[in-house]
Amino acid sequence: MITIVGAGSTTGAALIPMLLEETDEKLQLLSSRPLAYDHERVQMHVVNVRDKNVLKQTIMAAMPQMVINLAAMTNVDKCESERQMAWDLNVTLVENLARITRVLDAKMVHISTDYVFDGTKGPYTETSVPNPINYYGKSKLAGENICVAGNANSLVIRTNVIYGPPRERPDFVRWVLDALDSQTPIRVVDDQIGNPTYVDDLAEVIMRLGMSRRTGLYHAGGADFLSRYDFALKIAEFFKLDPSIISRVTTAELAQPARRPLRLGLISLKAETDLRMRLRGVDSGLTSIRQYVVRHREELL
Ligand SMILES: NC(=O)c1ccc[n+]([C@@H]2O[C@H](COP(=O)([O-])OP(=O)(O)OC[C@H]3O[C@@H](n4cnc5c(N)ncnc54)[C@H](OP(=O)(O)O)[C@@H]3O)[C@@H](O)[C@H]2O)c1
Repeated sequence: MITIVGAGSTTGAALIPMLLEETDEKLQLLSSRPLAYDHERVQMHVVNVRDKNVLKQTIMAAMPQMVINLAAMTNVDKCESERQMAWDLNVTLVENLARITRVLDAKMVHISTDYVFDGTKGPYTETSVPNPINYYGKSKLAGENICVAGNANSLVIRTNVIYGPPRERPDFVRWVLDALDSQTPIRVVDDQIGNPTYVDDLAEVIMRLGMSRRTGLYHAGGADFLSRYDFALKIAEFFKLDPSIISRVTTAELAQPARRPLRLGLISLKAETDLRMRLRGVDSGLTSIRQYVVRHREELL
């Protein structure tokens, strides 16, 4: 049995079908809302993951050998203004899960972010020293630390700029495509660098490292390091749409509530070497999105 907390997340939408397809594991899904997985190996639980007792009772009853935590407060600006909620989800929840998995002698897999770094000299490896500059990054770093301290049999996988096929929650690609489609002007920062991660690659890293005996810290980011502005232009070019609505802006000009680290990106050689896989670059990721859209055209209309 594998328990997935935050099963309704963007990452969950890729990971759950992959686990059902590629393993024989039963899945216990915890979410704030019912999810449409009609499968004999899926147990769905609608719970408030911030309720420690409910969390404990639900997971203890299933006795999983692994718990994968995908729940988080991921809105960076909201984390700055709603600090208690950010701490509850990004730290206290992780602490509770680490304790539950330790008692069960289960493995804990937790997902973190490149925002634990200050963005002065990315890209970063697993041995680079974190120095978060906003509350999201601080809370995620505290979550990493509490995970490792709470359960020695744990994995922390850092990722960045997740994108993939159109799903419920719009990602960067969808935001750009919607703007291109409707010819709505957008301003995109040209000084925030990262390596966008195709969601199926992240799901594969989580699944394969999770099912292995490996523990510790791993980075999982895509093959191309580029600014958000260059990524937006690539999306327009790939889908043959007019890029004239995309204009460049600096992070300073945008003046968002939370400070943003600039030169980020995650060197993912350790995961790629251990798993003998390559995380795809953006051309390949956009090709995968196009293939998905063609395959699922009926459902998407
Ligand atoms: N998206 C990115 O580009 C990115 C970049 C770096 C790191 N990460 C990390 O990767 C992990 C997965 O990210 P994601 O983008 O897949 O997540 P996501 O789509 O933002 O979903 C996060 C999930 O957390 C749960 N959640 C959020 N707010 C909640 C609340 N107030 N109460 C209860 N549950 C709540 C929800 O789960 P349910 O819907 O199941 O209730 C939600 O679907 C996170 O740890 C994130 O920090 C993401």
